[in-house]
Amino acid sequence: MTGIFGNSSRSNSVSDHSPFKQAVGIDDLAVYIPQLYLPLEGEFSRRREIDPGKLTRGIGIERMAIPDAHEDAATMAAMSLLELMRRCDLLPEDIGKIHVGTESAVDEAKAIGTYVIGMLEKVYGPGSFQHCSTVEFKSACIGTTLALESISYWVAADEGERVGVVIASDVAKYPLGSSAEYTQGAGSVSLLVKKNPRIAALEQIYGCFTRDENDFFRPTGCTMATVNGKHSNQCYLDAMQGAFASFATKAAGKGIISPKNGECTTDSIDHLLFHIPYPRMIEYASAAIFRQDWKNSSRWSDVEAEIGPEPEAGNYDDLERYRLDLARYARSFARSRQFLQAYNARVIDSAALSRSIGNIYTGSIYLGLASLLELQKLRAHERLCFGAYGSGCSALVFSARVSSEFSSVPSRGLFERLEKRREISLEEYELLHEGVIKESLIQPSGEFALAQIDHQGYRHYEYVT
Ligand code: CAA
Repeated sequence: MTGIFGNSSRSNSVSDHSPFKQAVGIDDLAVYIPQLYLPLEGEFSRRREIDPGKLTRGIGIERMAIPDAHEDAATMAAMSLLELMRRCDLLPEDIGKIHVGTESAVDEAKAIGTYVIGMLEKVYGPGSFQHCSTVEFKSACIGTTLALESISYWVAADEGERVGVVIASDVAKYPLGSSAEYTQGAGSVSLLVKKNPRIAALEQIYGCFTRDENDFFRPTGCTMATVNGKHSNQCYLDAMQGAFASFATKAAGKGIISPKNGECTTDSIDHLLFHIPYPRMIEYASAAIFRQDWKNSSRWSDVEAEIGPEPEAGNYDDLERYRLDLARYARSFARSRQFLQAYNARVIDSAALSRSIGNIYTGSIYLGLASLLELQKLRAHERLCFGAYGSGCSALVFSARVSSEFSSVPSRGLFERLEKRREISLEEYELLHEGVIKESLIQPSGEFALAQIDHQGYRHYEYVT
């Protein structure tokens, strides 16, 4: 995007304000999505007695990726890492650290990354990763983003040439027939984090918001999360607004984004990428962020000319009435010409892959980045602003600048790959969901597979050629 954001002569080298001597960020990414999917229109919507329009437009998901019997968060993580290593000609000794964000842990103590290394050593040879450390980041869907923040400082400080890898891997699973069921999905994203990255350099400004909440949690021993759906939407919005305000203050303080008279922070952001539990959520999130940000800018008078002034608490005796009017105003804002223009230009494309995959929890925000890359929506030097959310709850807002050589990174052909998946019936989906099917629906080939869980609970994986 050019023109209106002012700083058009942005340089690709590290910013004067960066704590790093060299730019650090995302050099490449690889995505793994299971081969099975369930369409939400048709048998699912009929049997659950839900209008298909609610699922495809109200929620925004058309197909949910479903793991086969031999897949779990560890196999998917190993698959996306293997693809990343092959794409980038990486050898095991090139990788210094593997940080894995997941909320679908396969063990209460053993780090999932050790299983992943075990699987990769079946391809690269025993002991090939012995000098690589790994740790699991658990913080619901924000885990991978906290892992990225952490590993970026290690990459910057490391004197050698070794790179860091951040893997997101999750199975989003809720009870059959619940109102969360149509927001499931599964998949993994691996990010290569290095100096002078080819895709995007982190600006190292992190705006954060944390509060203790019961919106979504999975007590030890439970296989599925407890989710207070509507409350989780509100927690997401509150946290995102809090983190964005913190980000805007820090970015201004460091002189990285300094809005002049009448401008606001989002004027300097070309793409906003949010955590995507379901595509409609990023519409709610961006409406909340733009409304909060624009109120301090000259464009707010255009909004007021279209939908009137926002209700003010001081004008109400009745708090409930104020809340209702404010909710009505928020809905009008989300339909306003000003908002829709910004949403369509700077937000909506990041959900393209999620519509056909569903929620992959901690990797979904990076699936958003993959969407923009695959759709060729990015331009050199544009500023990306990421809004990560993790239930419980926490949000982290940070920015990155698109590198000048990003277009040299080969496409992953993700949209074409999604079209080659196998559709499963509602019955097959339900049997897989309940763990009744033990045999894989598609025999594994050229991939990692869970072969056995032994009497001690240790998981045995293999690489099936
Ligand atoms: N055609 C088009 N739209 C329709 C429609 C139709 N026939 N029928 C309904 N809709 C619209 C509704 O109007 C509503 O849109 P508006 O908000 O604009 O009014 C939208 O579809 C959703 O419908 P409901 O409000 O009835 O929502 P629901 O009862 O189906 O619940 C949910 C939605 C809360 C997301 C539920 O699916 C859920 O609990 N999901 C899991 C939790 C979750 O994803 N939370 C998100 C925040 S937490 C987070 O982000 C972490 C994470 O990854 C889990």
